[in-house]
Amino acid sequence: MIHVLFVCLGNICRSPMAEAVFSDMVKKNGLEGEIKTDSAGIGAWHTGNPPHEGTQDILKQKGISTSGITARQVRESDLTDFDYVIAMDAENIGHLRSMAGYKKAAKIGRLLDYVKDADLADVPDPYYTGNFSEVYALIESGCRHLLESIKKDHHL
Ligand code: 4NP
Repeated sequence: MIHVLFVCLGNICRSPMAEAVFSDMVKKNGLEGEIKTDSAGIGAWHTGNPPHEGTQDILKQKGISTSGITARQVRESDLTDFDYVIAMDAENIGHLRSMAGYKKAAKIGRLLDYVKDADLADVPDPYYTGNFSEVYALIESGCRHLLESIKKDHHL
């Protein structure tokens, strides 16, 4: 089983959106027996909460379920337990790298780095911008390219 963790700051806007979108893609590719997905936040402010209304609304429009997704804080053991730890922005990467040892840092990546011709490197935080549809488009593209990369790496 390949374990993929998406990380953002609060775990209520971007990373639960990525978790839901990526899980949906995994299912549509018939890979739910091979790839498991989760998400977590750098901060613990929203622990136990469902995704932000903006994330829920856009995913509802796209027909993607958020059922069962609740916020939790990232923990050091995530760097051992997950094969891919995919952050939304450079600030998240900084926090994760400071938690990880040299070896574990290798599995930390940034979502939009998987998109070769991306205009942006970081997924902007819709908690502040309010632009959930822009974030959805970026996350959809990032997840699609991430899945292609994982499929290639693992000959799936
Ligand atoms: P996210 O957005 O990192 O995409 O979940 C945020 C949500 C909450 C907060 C910051 C960012 N906050 O400070 O509570």
